Amino acid sequence: MRVSMIGAGYVGLVSGACFADFGHHVTCIDKNDGRIAALNKGEIPIYEPGLADLVEANVRGGRLEFAAEVASVAKADAVFIAVGTPSRRGDGYADLSFVYEAVGEIAPFLAVGAVIVTKSTVPVGTGDEIERILRERRPDVDLQVVSNPEFLREGAAIQDFKHPDRIVVGTNDARARTVLAEIYRPLYLNAAPILYVSRRTAELIKYASNAFLATKITFINEIADLCEQVGADVQDVARGMGLDNRIGGKFLHPGPGFGGSCFPKDTTALLKTAQDHGIALRIVEAVSAVNDQRKRAMARKVVAALDGSLRGKTIAVLGLAFKPNTDDTRDSPAIPLITALQDLGARVRAYDPAAMEQAKPALSAVNYCGSAYAAADGADALVIATEWEQFRALDLARLKSVMAQPVIVDLRNIYRADEMQRAGFRYGAIGRAGVD
Ligand code: NAD
Ligand code: UGA
Repeated sequence: MRVSMIGAGYVGLVSGACFADFGHHVTCIDKNDGRIAALNKGEIPIYEPGLADLVEANVRGGRLEFAAEVASVAKADAVFIAVGTPSRRGDGYADLSFVYEAVGEIAPFLAVGAVIVTKSTVPVGTGDEIERILRERRPDVDLQVVSNPEFLREGAAIQDFKHPDRIVVGTNDARARTVLAEIYRPLYLNAAPILYVSRRTAELIKYASNAFLATKITFINEIADLCEQVGADVQDVARGMGLDNRIGGKFLHPGPGFGGSCFPKDTTALLKTAQDHGIALRIVEAVSAVNDQRKRAMARKVVAALDGSLRGKTIAVLGLAFKPNTDDTRDSPAIPLITALQDLGARVRAYDPAAMEQAKPALSAVNYCGSAYAAADGADALVIATEWEQFRALDLARLKSVMAQPVIVDLRNIYRADEMQRAGFRYGAIGRAGVD
């Protein structure tokens, strides 16, 4: 199959490289010329484990290429749209301008019978609007518009793409289903179920899934708050709950609140869709509000660990990405945390293995350091904001020797209180007993 992928970001580049790896011929198209020039030089513009090797192998195999122009969609059996759908500034609706712009750009070039596939996360009814635009611009060709939402996670994107729990294909058209089935054939040979549903249903499955996962996280975060007050251990509570197959243990890790380029914007966009249709999604409303408050409230944990005042104190923050194994800082809990620490009078030193450049535009007056130990140098407290693997086994004796005070606030629960006690640290965690 010949596939065009419009948008070479986290989803487009990973999906394009994986489709090429399945044996299809893929052109990834991005309007960002710099991004295409970098890709053509063999440079990968995002941090995603395994992606550089996958891209390189498929470019070498002649199955993957990059272009800044859309004209090549004329040769494609399927054109995937994987451009961003961020929150629209000011009102929280999904900003569909990139999607419609892409549709307008490809319209003149589409071949007879081409299948246009929306991989971007788009509100219910967007596929209908894309179809309307295309029919208006290309009354001469029979085009099908399909919804095929993507469920990969950053940091584990290739594994998720190649071993999905399910593939959702939203169209009632038999030929379009056959084209999508052919594209995904290597996956269902590996037993990934393909769910064929209507286009609107597919669009809603994506938002409902993200909102449900966000709800699970928010639920355990609130239980963690209760654990702190009643002397229970949230890790054990989560394990005890998760062993019930009806609940499941995944997405029950408490933390500083969910972040990233998707859960925050998608919960808000879902609320807007519901509002427009006169439906109250009260659970999702609460999830969104609780999570926003939680991110800001994390600074209070640091205040508590330093006896009530941050004025003139130096805080080391480890981790700026919204999760490990990515350089993405969109809606990262570390950003409002750092701003709140600064507002309370603290100086901030920070280290992240991959995301420091991305974080810079959102922050000011932060001292960026070359390692966890450099960040900890002279700090009154060290806050673990992202659970990067390399933060899980820090040399505690070395940390203690460089810090002004031995205080650790672990917002990801990657250490145990007893090891911190042995190492001589005051230690605060989430939903578990700390060390005073
Ligand atoms: P991104 O911002 O990383 O990438 C989007 C790319 O599209 C950019 O490189 C941009 O230059 C390009 N682009 C925008 N308009 C274009 C146009 N008209 N023509 C060509 N290129 C254009 O975005 P992302 O994180 O990959 O997300 C893309 C979509 O996938 C969003 O709807 C998102 O909600 C959804 N999604 C993201 C993830 C994730 O983990 N990031 C997972 C599942 C679904
Ligand atoms: C999420 C979904 O997991 C993907 O299925 C979906 O495709 C994607 O959004 C999307 O639509 O873009 P992602 O945002 O990459 O993927 O990362 P997650 O692993 O889901 O983490 C999101 C946030 O929740 C992070 O801030 C993470 O730290 C937090 N989280 C996650 C928790 O606090 N606890 C958990 O148990 C899990």
